[in-house]
Amino acid sequence: MIVMEEKYTHTSVMIREVAELLITDKGGIYLDGTIGMGGHAKKILEKLEPSGKLIGIDWDPEMLNIASNNLSEFSSQIKLIGGNFANLDEILRKEGILHISGLLLDLGVSSLHFDKPSRGFSFRKEGPLDMRINPANPLTAYTIINTWPYEQIEHLIRICGERFSHKITKAIIEHRQNSEIKTTTELASVIEKAIPFKAKNTRSSHPATKTFLALRVAVNYEFDNLTKALQKAIHVLAPGGRIAVITFHSLEDRIVKETFRFMAKMGGWKLVNKKPLSASEEEINSNPRARSAKLRVIEKIK
Ligand SMILES: C[S@@+](CC[C@H](N)C(=O)[O-])C[C@H]1O[C@@H](n2cnc3c(N)ncnc32)[C@H](O)[C@@H]1O
Repeated sequence: MIVMEEKYTHTSVMIREVAELLITDKGGIYLDGTIGMGGHAKKILEKLEPSGKLIGIDWDPEMLNIASNNLSEFSSQIKLIGGNFANLDEILRKEGILHISGLLLDLGVSSLHFDKPSRGFSFRKEGPLDMRINPANPLTAYTIINTWPYEQIEHLIRICGERFSHKITKAIIEHRQNSEIKTTTELASVIEKAIPFKAKNTRSSHPATKTFLALRVAVNYEFDNLTKALQKAIHVLAPGGRIAVITFHSLEDRIVKETFRFMAKMGGWKLVNKKPLSASEEEINSNPRARSAKLRVIEKIK
């Protein structure tokens, strides 16, 4: 389904699969840790009985307003809360909730983040080098690019899969010796010039894709938040409850895969799908963002 705010839309990925696999108790309490514009939440709420509840968390206050509008018909069954899903245990405790029947994490950012130049996520639109999901956080992409030492920037870009990490970082450091890199398009142009011509022509994605992903991951502590959320979810899931996670790149999928495997090995949990589910060809054709999505689900044994 597509939900919108002004001109911003976000097409939720594998919406039918998520609702089918996540719900095991139609009267239970569900936690959507990444409520966004509320696309998955709406589908889940449609399937719940009137006694079922959904808590929606988002780190970006802008998203909560949009979700609140989009889910207004379910206002008696939902509670929307601003916060980091890494603190899901505390958030639930404050609501007096000890156990939930399901947790959904649909990772990454919303299409709104890419489409709104002022948020600084896209190398295609001129904007400040920001990339904060929560604008109250102290670290920005600008700080990383203009103040971090060579070793830290190079390492960050390399672990996110950029094979020209050395050339790109060298170009950033050289550029900033003369003038600061202030905008997304300025950074994209520095990166483009740093990558060898031949490699640029053979790449299927824009030369700045991996560097921008690396910056976003670092600015928002994405791997750390995911690891913490999964560890905390272990304790709040009710027996028979499930955790469903949608990832969009291999590094975050590896965290989910390894954590779920470890949980299953330790006992008390079973993998609902041994291999991650991908979106159907039909969905990918209508929403290219779905191509890289992987859905993994685990269940707490009763
Ligand atoms: C892919 S979107 C979710 C879209 C949503 N499932 C829908 O159908 O509309 C990811 C959302 O997670 C939020 N987010 C990212 N990291 C977060 C975190 N650590 N804690 C809470 N929300 C987070 C983003 O602001 C964004 O709105």
